[in-house]
Amino acid sequence: MSPPTAPIEVGNGPKPEFLTTKKSSLISMDELVQIMEANTLQDDPREKRTERSSKLVKAYLIKNEPEFVRVLGFRDRGWMQNKDKGDAFFKAQRDRADNTDVSGEQKFFRMMIQIADEMNGVTGALSPQTARGPDMKVLDICMAPGGYTAAVLKFNPRASTFAITLPKEQGGHPIHVERSRLAGLQLLDVTMLVNEFTDKPMPPNHPDREKFLTIRPFKFHSFDLVFCDGMVLRTQQREDYREGNEVIRLSTSQLILAMQRIKAGGTLVMLLHKIDSFPAANILHIFSKFSKVEAFKPQKKHATRSSFYMIAKDVQPGHEAAKAVVEEWKEAWWNATFGGEDGTGMPKVDPHESAVFNILEEFGEQLMEMGRPVWRIQGDALSRTEYASDGSIVRSEGVVGVPGAVNPSPWRDLRESLKENVPLQTSSSPGVPVGPSSWRALRENVPPKSTDSPVISSPWDVMRESLKERVAQSPTSPTPLDKDLKSI
Ligand SMILES: C[S@@+](CC[C@H](N)C(=O)[O-])C[C@H]1O[C@@H](n2cnc3c(N)ncnc32)[C@H](O)[C@@H]1O
Repeated sequence: MSPPTAPIEVGNGPKPEFLTTKKSSLISMDELVQIMEANTLQDDPREKRTERSSKLVKAYLIKNEPEFVRVLGFRDRGWMQNKDKGDAFFKAQRDRADNTDVSGEQKFFRMMIQIADEMNGVTGALSPQTARGPDMKVLDICMAPGGYTAAVLKFNPRASTFAITLPKEQGGHPIHVERSRLAGLQLLDVTMLVNEFTDKPMPPNHPDREKFLTIRPFKFHSFDLVFCDGMVLRTQQREDYREGNEVIRLSTSQLILAMQRIKAGGTLVMLLHKIDSFPAANILHIFSKFSKVEAFKPQKKHATRSSFYMIAKDVQPGHEAAKAVVEEWKEAWWNATFGGEDGTGMPKVDPHESAVFNILEEFGEQLMEMGRPVWRIQGDALSRTEYASDGSIVRSEGVVGVPGAVNPSPWRDLRESLKENVPLQTSSSPGVPVGPSSWRALRENVPPKSTDSPVISSPWDVMRESLKERVAQSPTSPTPLDKDLKSI
């Protein structure tokens, strides 16, 4: 283990942004690299697909957030150690999604209504502050089958609902909401709305120039509530050149359109993946500058997945930060659509590490606050699966490995007790302290001190042991990634 980095000398000139506010969760570059190294499994194909920016976010969270460490353990078991079982499970899930029949579609529709109901119960997202009774206007981007719109109409039957969604003929889902209930519907591929996303002329040699759409749907409306629930579908027929960039094309398309239609003070709901990845953390951080952001994950639906929803309330599209980021998204859409030598799109460039560090410094604590319930729900759900379970879940009756209600995470109690600086009392063993030394040990990466009082063996200990094993297995020579990071 290398020593902590020496404090950086700051002269009289302008101070680098990352030195201005020192937070307890801050971490040195060296530490980040060490944690990243210890957690890079050489034979894990996921590592190759993960960009460096997301690896840095992951390292930061490993250092600071027990709830994330817990879910990571389950993910590793499901995706690596029990890979065959995990692969079989996800393949079956994909096959079901791709080959769904009418009853499957209806089930999906009902599930989306339930998610919207739960989302509204927890966050009030379906009742935006700008909406006044029947005047409420909603734009549902990527709407089919229409569970969200149906839920809005259930809570507010006089709301005006507008929708955009991929036509069935192009592989989109069928719509289950009666057309007469919609004030407007556009069946189209939202990523092709060229006049929404750029003022520049299209490259003359683009092979599919005529497929781009010049309309600007619902241009004269502004909305109290906008949903961006698009998901790149395997069933959509797309040209090969689109494959690599479709995720970024769809997310930027939805974001630009949403920001160009939302009312000042409105609410935007967006499906995101992996709150512990850079792209999701970055979007939450950006929205936190011009809205009130929270994260929501349904307790049961899609609980084993990493998906969650950003709920951004009181969005201010006229804020300078909002206007600036819309320009950035437009640039990103252009690059993903028309960039590169062939003019058919180029891969996204991973941000510089300093940008990742600035975000972690400014937003890391908030990210952990938001992510904790999301990781907890996914961790609890994975702990109940055959492929990821380690049999260690703490349940309401204190029974291990038996289905039942799940206790709030032990980490929350531990964290709270540390904040208050009092020994932790656990419900299963009142009066027995969980030694803060375990916590400190983990943060400082030293072996936990033994105490006179018995310390409850925790999932932390399990995780610590597995980390130790990984460190022992990882090569000692620095990887090219480490060299790059150290040279910053
Ligand atoms: C998760 S579903 C949305 C469910 C919906 N929120 C509900 O409540 O029923 C994702 C939707 O995105 C749509 N979609 C995917 N790619 C799209 C695109 N390029 N343009 C428009 N819609 C798209 C799919 O057809 C599908 O209807």
